[in-house]
Order: sequence, then structure tokens, then C-alpha cells
Amino acid sequence: MTGNDIRKKYLDFMAKKGHAVIPSSALVPENDPTTLFTGSGMQPMVPYLLGETHPKGTRVTDSQKCFRADDIEEVGDNRHTTFFEMLGNWSFGDYFKEEQISWMFEFLTEELKLDPSRLYITTFGGDETAGIPLDEDAPKFWQALFAKQGIEAIIANIGSEADGYQRGMQEGERIFSYESKKNWWSRAGVPSNMPAGEPGGPDSEMFYDFGTEHDKKWGEHCHPNCDCGRFVEIGNNVFMQYVKNDDGTFTELKNKNIDFGGGLERIAAAVNNNSDVFKIDLLWKVVEQTQTLSGKKYEDNLEAFRVITDHIRGAVFMIGDGIAPGNTEQGYFVRRLLRRAVRFADVLGIPAGELKNLAESVISTYESHYTNLTDQREAIKRAITLEEEQFRKTLENGLKQFNKISLQIHVETTIIDGKKVIDKSKPPVSIKSISAENAFELFTTYGFPIELTEEIAKEKGLVVDKVGFEKLMVEHREKSRAGAEHKFKGGLADNSEIVVQYHTVTHLMLAALRHFLGSHIHQAGSNITGERLRFDFTHPEKVERETLDKIEDWVNTAIKTGGEVRIDMMSKTEAEDDPTVEGSFWDRYPDEVKVYTVTGNDGTVFSRELCGGPHVNKLEEITGTFKIQKEESSSAGVRRIKAVLQK
Ligand code: ALA
Repeated sequence: MTGNDIRKKYLDFMAKKGHAVIPSSALVPENDPTTLFTGSGMQPMVPYLLGETHPKGTRVTDSQKCFRADDIEEVGDNRHTTFFEMLGNWSFGDYFKEEQISWMFEFLTEELKLDPSRLYITTFGGDETAGIPLDEDAPKFWQALFAKQGIEAIIANIGSEADGYQRGMQEGERIFSYESKKNWWSRAGVPSNMPAGEPGGPDSEMFYDFGTEHDKKWGEHCHPNCDCGRFVEIGNNVFMQYVKNDDGTFTELKNKNIDFGGGLERIAAAVNNNSDVFKIDLLWKVVEQTQTLSGKKYEDNLEAFRVITDHIRGAVFMIGDGIAPGNTEQGYFVRRLLRRAVRFADVLGIPAGELKNLAESVISTYESHYTNLTDQREAIKRAITLEEEQFRKTLENGLKQFNKISLQIHVETTIIDGKKVIDKSKPPVSIKSISAENAFELFTTYGFPIELTEEIAKEKGLVVDKVGFEKLMVEHREKSRAGAEHKFKGGLADNSEIVVQYHTVTHLMLAALRHFLGSHIHQAGSNITGERLRFDFTHPEKVERETLDKIEDWVNTAIKTGGEVRIDMMSKTEAEDDPTVEGSFWDRYPDEVKVYTVTGNDGTVFSRELCGGPHVNKLEEITGTFKIQKEESSSAGVRRIKAVLQK
């Protein structure tokens, strides 16, 4: 069974269970400037989990392209990848736990023919602080399914991960409950970390037992959440039934939802009964080509092969979604992926200019499902070649810098007769090292991986202060991680009630701007907090206060009609060709898009706009009077408005 077969089997299976199969959203989240990448299948579903109506009904399924930037440096073991596909199915207030659990069991054991005795389950053990009880139902549903297969599945209460290592697993135990850290899912993690307005819930994860030897380096005993690699998580059923309130308590959502996500690569590894995800056909094709190009064997160079394979695939999908290599935001990650790939290609002795051929291998493997790769084939290969060429030039400059550094050291540290003298006729004798700072500068400014610095240093008979370098790297990573977390939290705050109101008001305001000033006006940027909206738009000159007053009146009149917001799902081409649909940043959107229409209660259309949501359902949910506080220049040809809803 190939990876493409498994994806198709899953989508067909879910279609048979009444789900609408929808395309993957783009790797860059729609209309959400606060998170860089789509990192799970549920991200584009948040508005529907919170109660908005999905145009395709209450059951949907897809295979979502995901990218987890935090994992770049984890790549190299047998299961971490930066890019992956998450198979997902959702119930928006339709079926719940029992159906989901039985379908998963059916899919894994009947469709994929996984041996049920290799499956292990974890469930939610309760969270006292959040006031959410232990999940009693899920273990029972699982137990009954195993019993039908003649497997006695004993339920055990574990608690924390540490408890798991201490206690291990007893004979016959198969279903284990853990605390929130392990079996509660929200985009922000445990209940206490969640911002107000964020949905979350208990979950039940499924693990495949690869039967490998436990490694005590991780802890005394093995258990499903042990990191030794024997158990690998192949899917997570989230019972998305709570939302966090402004005061920190939790209430049940109007709808009880299901959010399932399972990594296609890991499921395929289970089907292969080989825990190395790089051995699945989707990735193996690239590995094989890398073997041909380098004349080296995968088994002898695991890290280099895995990095190249993962990074080329990630870069292909990113560029395919319109993200060019660059120095900021998403583009920076494409650049990092490609530069690391070049570096490891050099380690394997792959000739320059071959990355585009590895990219071709990725494209031909995936294009039957991701047809945008076919359309973008040449553009992707061109971008990769260009980045490879540029990086090779940078490497050259870095080498020059390297020579300067080592020279300085020689000169500064030469000691003759107890005195520091610059004596170029004699070889340096004292310090033969590249300082941590030098190594760090080579890394940050010249893109020199530490391995490269070490290699060259060795050639020159110098040593590198690697311990010091690692310390600087840890500091550097902590700084950038803090930045990433900040960014992520910013995005999550977006679903509190007031923020959702501002989203809809922003649509009305854009419509009013276009109404009074002309259709040359488009969105150039938007930033919303619980206190205000800030909106950038294309317009060459100052907007007079008189006009701003008219815009305010127009928006407030629209709000007062108490009309509604409707969502239409349509193909991107259809939306783009429809002159009544306003939108910017079209290339960031997937093939199927959402168009939000705001109408008065007599049917007057106020606004029709491409968007990812979330929005209010009814205009009467908007509280306060719309007021423009400031209009100013933002950049050349772009104006900025700050506005509030005054209570
Ligand atoms: N949203 C859940 C996850 O990403 C399914 O694990």
C-alpha cells in the first residue's frame, strides 16, 4: 500500500461515513497574520468548531499540508519531519465519541489491516484545576472493540508521564489514561495555557507498537507515551467540546465536536511495520535518488539523507504555496530548509545544481493529489536552483571571512619570548582555536553550519570552541522560540467575542471605504486586538474627516439593521472572477475559498469578501458604536485607520 493509496483509502472511507472531502488549505494560514504556518488539520476549522456553519455540512474530511518549524533541527531521527500531511475528519456537532472511536478502529484494522494487538490507546485522566472530569466513556468504547477481536484490553490509570516511566505496563493493559499534558488538546496545549475564546477538549490517542526494545535512557519502564520509539502515535481523536471563558473557567460548547488528526507518514510507517518514516514510498523515492546522485548508502548516512529528503519536500510544498525563499517570515524557513539541504548534499558529495532533480522526484510523487505542484513545477525548480546558487556564493564569502578569523587568531596570539609580537615569519604557537563568538558569527551571518566550521578548522589545524558555540545557540534559540510563542498566542487571542466583532466591522469598513472613495481601495494589512482594529488600505492621499464621518455613519447604519453574515464556499477561480467579491492576497488562498457576505435584514448586500473568518453570525452581536479615531499614512500609497467600537 503506497502513501497515496492510504490517503485515498482514508478519504474514501470517511466519504462513505457521510463526510464531504475538501481540499487542503494552504501552508500559510488564511487571513491570519499572527501564525506563520498551518501546523495541524484543525487550524482552518476553528470557526466551525466554535459554531459557524460549514458550507459543506457537519461532516468534513481532508488531508492537510502541515509544517512545524520547531522541528527543523529535530530532523535526523526515524520519525521527525518538518512537513507532513495530517489526515483529518471533523464532526461539527454531529456524531461524537462512540462513532469516531469505532470508525477509527474499523479503518485501522479492516481498511489498513493493522494487527489490533499492536494498537495501544491513551485517554484523558481529568484536570482538577480546570474542573474537567476523567473521560469514562472513551476507554469503554475502545475496550468493547478490542473484546470483539478477542483481545482483553485492561484499562489503567497512569497520571503523569513520570508516573508512566515508574509504573510501566502490566500484563494485558492496553488503554491508559494520562493527565492533561498528554491527553488534552488545544492549539495552545493544556487548559491553563489556553487564551479566552479558544476551543479544546479531552483526547484519545492511538499508538502503534513497533515492538522494538525499550531504551532505559528515557526512563525505567516503557509505556505508550515513552520516547524510546517502541510506541509511535498514529492518530489523535479530540473530543472538542469546551471553550475557555474570559474568567478562565470552561463551558461546554453548543456543539460537541470531533477533531481527528493522524500523520499520514506515521500511519504509513505502521502499515510498513517499520518505524522509519523515511522508508515509506512517499519519502523513499527521494532517498533512492539521493543514493544514486551521491553514490552513497542511506544506512551509512542516516542524518544527511533524512535532512535532504525532509527539507527538499518541505521546500517544494512551501514554494508550491507561493512562499519564496527570503529573509523574513515564512520565506526565511524555506531558505533555511534549502541551505541545510545544500550543506548536507555537499557532505554526501552530490554535485552542485542537483537539488532541482530531487525536487522533481517530490513533485512527481505527490502531484496526483496536490495538483498545484504540477502547475508550479518549473517555478519551484527555478526557485530552488536560484537559492542553491545564491547560497553557494554566500558560502564562498563565508570562507573568506573564515580565513580572516583564523588569520587574526594567528597574529594576535603569537608569543615570542613571552611577548605578543606580530611575527609572520614564524607559525603561531599558542592559541589554535576559533572562538565561540566567531563560530556563531559564521553561523548567523554567513550561514556556516557548525559542522562546516569544524571541518575547515580541522584542515587548518585549529579547534573550535563548540561548547561555547552551543551555549550561544541555546540562547539564540530561546530568543527565537519566545518570539514564536508570542506570535502564536497573538493568533489565538483572535477568537474572543470582541475580536470576532471587530473582524466583521472591518469588512463593513472596507466596503464603506470603497463605496465613498472608489474601487481602487483594497486591504493592505489588518491587525485586530480586543481594544481596536487597525487597517491598512491602498489609497494615495489623506482621507478628510468629513468622509470618515460618512464612513462611520454607513457602518453604524449597516450594523443597526441587525442583518446577517453568510459564508459561501466556492472555487477560487469562481470567486476571483466574480466582480462583487472583494479580496487581496489571493495567492495565499487554497483552491476552495470562503466568501463572507454581510447583508441587511431586507437583503441589501453590504459587503462580499474573501476571508478565513471568524465572523459574527448576526450583526446584532456587534456591541457599541463604530468610531474612527485616526487616519494616517502607513507607507507609500497606503493609508492606515485605527477604529474602535465605543460602548
Ligand atoms: N488537532 C489534533 C492534533 O493536531 C487532532 O493532534
